[in-house]
Amino acid sequence: MRFTPPVLAVVLGAAFFAGCYPKSAPPPGSVGPKGVEAAQAHAPGASVASLERGRQLFLAHCNACHGYPDVDAVPAAEWPGILVEMGDNAHLTPVERDETLAFVLASRAR
Ligand code: HEC
Repeated sequence: MRFTPPVLAVVLGAAFFAGCYPKSAPPPGSVGPKGVEAAQAHAPGASVASLERGRQLFLAHCNACHGYPDVDAVPAAEWPGILVEMGDNAHLTPVERDETLAFVLASRAR
């Protein structure tokens, strides 16, 4: 089969989007009591306030280039590496990145 260049561009574009862009979801709500508990099991310093800061950072930065990522669509073990890359993309400080990561992981625990 021969592809004309426009068709090829669409096929390659679709493969790119399917391959690396996050599945998007509506803007996430606040972390519930279960999420706070789960976060504190890993990071004793985590609090309702720090998780809410993480949520605000997520809301402010994580739909600039793509939709809000679906936090459940990526395995927990992959999130730290993704936040390193995406934290750079969003110009987060290391503290902001860690708070955003803690929020993402906590909001998976429902
Ligand atoms: C400056 C643009 C930009 C910003 C800001 C940004 N992203 Fe991304 N993101 C991308 C691009 C481009 C990709 C696809 C290519 C890649 O993986 O680098 C992507 C991919 C992703 C993926 C899919 C990765 C995978 O391996 O499946 C996730 C999840 C994600 N971003 C989360 C986030 C989160 C969380 C934030 C907020 C901290 C964020 N992004 C902010 C540009 C951005």
